[in-house]
Amino acid sequence: MKSPKFSMLFTLVFAAFFSFSWATLPHQNFLQCLSLHSHDSSSISKLIFTRTNSSYESVLDSTLWNLRFTTTNTPKPLVIVTPTQISHIQATIHCSKKHGLQTRTRSGGHDYEGLSSVAKVPFVIIDLSKFRSVDVDVENRVAWVQSGATLGEIYYRIAEKSSTLAFPAAVFHTIGIGGHISGGGFGLLLRKYGTAGDNVVDAQFIDVNGRVLNRKSMGEDLFWAIRGGGGGSFGIVLAWKLSLVPIPANVTVCSVTRIRELNAAELVNRWQYIAHTLPDEVYSTVLLTPVNSTQPGTRTVLAIFNSLFLGTVNEFLPLMEQRFPELGLTRQNCSEMSYIQAIMVNNGMPNQPLEILLNGTSRVPIVSPSYKVKSDYVKKPIPLTGLNGFFSQLTDEAAAMTTIILVPYGGIMDRIPENATPFPHRAGNLYKIFYDVGWQATDNINTQKYLDWARKAYTYMTPFVSKSPREAYINFRDLDIGTNNIGYTSYAQASVWGYKYFKGNFKKLALVKTMIDPENFFKHEQSIPLL
Ligand SMILES: Cc1cc2nc3c(=O)[nH]c(=O)nc-3n(C[C@H](O)[C@H](O)[C@H](O)COP(=O)(O)OP(=O)(O)OC[C@H]3O[C@@H](n4cnc5c(N)ncnc54)[C@H](O)[C@@H]3O)c2cc1C
Ligand SMILES: *[C@@H]1O[C@H](CO)[C@@H](O)[C@H](O)[C@H]1NC(C)=O
Ligand SMILES: *[C@@H]1O[C@H](CO)[C@@H](O)[C@H](O)[C@H]1NC(C)=O
Ligand SMILES: *[C@@H]1O[C@H](CO)[C@@H](O)[C@H](O)[C@H]1NC(C)=O
Ligand SMILES: *[C@@H]1O[C@H](CO)[C@@H](O)[C@H](O)[C@H]1NC(C)=O
Ligand SMILES: *[C@@H]1O[C@H](CO)[C@@H](O)[C@H](O)[C@H]1NC(C)=O
Repeated sequence: MKSPKFSMLFTLVFAAFFSFSWATLPHQNFLQCLSLHSHDSSSISKLIFTRTNSSYESVLDSTLWNLRFTTTNTPKPLVIVTPTQISHIQATIHCSKKHGLQTRTRSGGHDYEGLSSVAKVPFVIIDLSKFRSVDVDVENRVAWVQSGATLGEIYYRIAEKSSTLAFPAAVFHTIGIGGHISGGGFGLLLRKYGTAGDNVVDAQFIDVNGRVLNRKSMGEDLFWAIRGGGGGSFGIVLAWKLSLVPIPANVTVCSVTRIRELNAAELVNRWQYIAHTLPDEVYSTVLLTPVNSTQPGTRTVLAIFNSLFLGTVNEFLPLMEQRFPELGLTRQNCSEMSYIQAIMVNNGMPNQPLEILLNGTSRVPIVSPSYKVKSDYVKKPIPLTGLNGFFSQLTDEAAAMTTIILVPYGGIMDRIPENATPFPHRAGNLYKIFYDVGWQATDNINTQKYLDWARKAYTYMTPFVSKSPREAYINFRDLDIGTNNIGYTSYAQASVWGYKYFKGNFKKLALVKTMIDPENFFKHEQSIPLL
């Protein structure tokens, strides 16, 4: 514990800092500017939250998903604006620019490093939670969705109208479509239909000058960049036109578990050779998680082999018996259900009513409160000794709430060119590794311990994963992979993480950025730099 004297001093310094800030910060002028530039100044005032508003904290935390960033010493926005009209957004951009405030756009608030809610400079959050309409057009197999809509709302509204259409994106229902598509986005349909960004056919976009553009008026380069180049770099996407894909009325969902002592590592080893070669209709994933072993006080590792098959159990069982007999999949391990029900099962809420998908604040039970994530791509099978070493790491105390997910590649991912969208991780990958290191929010005081473990595990994996660059997925944002943890000051510096996220697409992203936002107004720690 710190001494009371120290705490007192700290409090005084803290208070002095804030009263100083309040007296001199430009946000009063900013607020004046906002009401001046809104056609309906009375209505916009209901959509503006500063620290003096009693609901400021609850609005800030409403979608600040990673509780690592809810501590009192996390920097907070001067103002949160929750626009209901395009003119509110135009006014916010204009006034932020004029008064030197940075803006952070927030759709679903799931950014893994909290970049939509946290900045180290005076800033304003443009929270799109009121831009969340979803219009599904079954006949033309498209949907217009606003960026603040959650994946759950979109899935629910599609399923309401059709059991044979879907949109390929992540399973976690609280994720915002705005940030998700911005970084690519993937889920159970990755091997059949590619990323979310691969399935977008138009967008409504607002640029730094407040111009509202669509695909035609923005041009193909910008339309390319916003479908995977990462959120918060080019402007604000207000809405997306999604192309819906056909799925069977029932799909098959299977799960098999294997504990380390019963050769889980050997089975994962086999999986590496098989999962990426299966037909596009199969999505076979592995979750690794530490569990208590039967010997008290010791941990072991559980491997969970989940699969989704776009077809019937009767077709799937013989296929797996032929291609992956070691898995020992039986009828008892599988069920047929609608795709939307498969989403519920994969969210760990098989018995909840579907309406929970409409509740953007109900936390998915299998997601830990605070977390740090990393990602890797694997191009050659990891030797069994390497897997075993990693399993041993997973039994460290700091990994108690860690989940590792192995995401199968192959399928259509081998056939979409690397430069089709900014998302470059395509042919040549066997699978992606997602490291999700979790802990309780009450343990935020020990954050460093978990960050250290994540970095140690990542270092351990170095010899086994992609190299030059060591590829990473932008939506699994990781501020560790740059030259430092606080951002960049040049294109060269940004290239360090830029090539990991985007490979050869990075330069084109910088070109588009330079064209659409030449003053670099839309920026954050890992936004696309000017060329
Ligand atoms: C529990 C959990 C599970 C996840 N599972 C998956 C998964 O299975 N597959 C997967 O691909 N990803 C997954 N993700 C990652 C997720 O796709 C990204 O975090 C995504 O960016 C979240 O979008 P958001 O709108 O919720 O986030 P936000 O935090 O609102 O936005 C993320 C970034 O995009 C910017 N941004 C937001 N909205 C806009 C907009 N309208 N226009 C321009 N920029 C914008 C933000 O400023 C920020 O930089 C998961 C995340 C979490 C927390
Ligand atoms: C926040 O407080 C300001 C100043 O009191 C007020 O004008 C504004 O309407 C309040 N915002 C909301 C959402 O009530
Ligand atoms: C899979 O089915 C077998 C019986 O065929 C059963 O013993 C096993 O527990 C099942 N596994 C899971 C995870 O359901
Ligand atoms: C695992 O064991 C620890 C003690 O070693 C205990 O605190 C914890 O509750 C156990 N977890 C489960 C899920 O049983
Ligand atoms: C889907 O599967 C469920 C459960 O097995 C079954 O009751 C239902 O009839 C199936 N529907 C279709 C269209 O096959
Ligand atoms: C949404 O979920 C939260 C958290 O579980 C709960 O408190 C709230 O009542 C739910 N809202 C609705 C409308 O169901």
